[in-house]
Amino acid sequence: MNETIPQLLNYDEPSLDAAFATLADEVRAETFSPRDAEAFRLHWLGRKQGRLKLISDAWLKSAPADARKPLGIRFNQLKQQIEVALAAAVAAPPAASAKAGLDITLPGSVRAPGIPHPLLKTMNEIVAVFHDLGYSTALGPQVESDFYNFEALNFPPNHPARDTQDTLLLAGQQARPSRDRLLMRTHTSPVQIRSMIAQAPPIRIVVPGKVHRNDAADATHSPVFHQVEGLCVDTGITFSDLKGTLDHAMKALFGSSVKTRFFPSFFPFTEPSADVQISCIFCAGAGCRRCKHSGWIELLGCGMVDPTVFSSVTEERRKLNPAADAYNPAKISGFAFGMGVERIAMVQHGISDIGQFYSGDMRFLEQFA
Ligand code: PHE
Repeated sequence: MNETIPQLLNYDEPSLDAAFATLADEVRAETFSPRDAEAFRLHWLGRKQGRLKLISDAWLKSAPADARKPLGIRFNQLKQQIEVALAAAVAAPPAASAKAGLDITLPGSVRAPGIPHPLLKTMNEIVAVFHDLGYSTALGPQVESDFYNFEALNFPPNHPARDTQDTLLLAGQQARPSRDRLLMRTHTSPVQIRSMIAQAPPIRIVVPGKVHRNDAADATHSPVFHQVEGLCVDTGITFSDLKGTLDHAMKALFGSSVKTRFFPSFFPFTEPSADVQISCIFCAGAGCRRCKHSGWIELLGCGMVDPTVFSSVTEERRKLNPAADAYNPAKISGFAFGMGVERIAMVQHGISDIGQFYSGDMRFLEQFA
């Protein structure tokens, strides 16, 4: 800080303006925290040694009579500027005056540790059940081609089974061959195809991920949701392996007293196909509102891998490497399953509105901490 008294050589108006502008800059440049406000005040406005007093003494002493008034006006303006700066510091919000305004009787600010989102938690639980059975995780893209999402899974172009998937297509794809057209994947099943093309049998994978459908949001539907897919291909895999694996998985997720049952169903890429139901965990099968008084809750789709899928995969593998091992249905077989993560989390926690998962409402989310 400059403690010297600046010299004033001329008392004409332009010289006065210039001299006071320099002083005003000096005041403005002196930033100070509320705690230092008193030191700032003393430095400028102190009655005996204040800078304003020293300068006005020095300048007024040698001022010609007609310069006293313009000098006085300017000193008053400068004083006002200093007072405004002081007032602003005192009125500053508590955050800016944290130390001066510290109130140790207020509750401290707690930074809560983060927790996994309930959907992520359920997804990780499902994946962990299959990791324990020797499955590894595979992932795939959300923007997928028609080939992986449909064709290789035995949904031919224009086949009505495509209508069940409410597909969101990417714009501007018309010029491409139909198999290369891009869409938002409607299920995690395309990762079955990607994995089998990349890897010879045997294969055991689980595929967690986001999927997209042109569904209107309601209490049980969301246009973006999550699935966990499973695929097991090896020699001698039978439908009873599928039943045993899923029965074990449902008991691991919902408790050992849960029963499973398999209903005939249809998916183009599995034959036979089934829907899996578990005994209602709310009423133990007696019938209640949540199971629509049936005693059973439908949870997932599954089936034995259709040989047509193995043929598409083998064809693609041979395009990349003519000597690649075939997925030969005469030698190998497999099963696949797919489950909705939201649906499972809703049953686990008795949640009736899927929208809660995406609301970001802390009162909802904190219950899973
Ligand atoms: N992909 C099917 C769906 O989203 C579920 C499924 C996966 C069915 C694997 C059978 C085998 O509806």
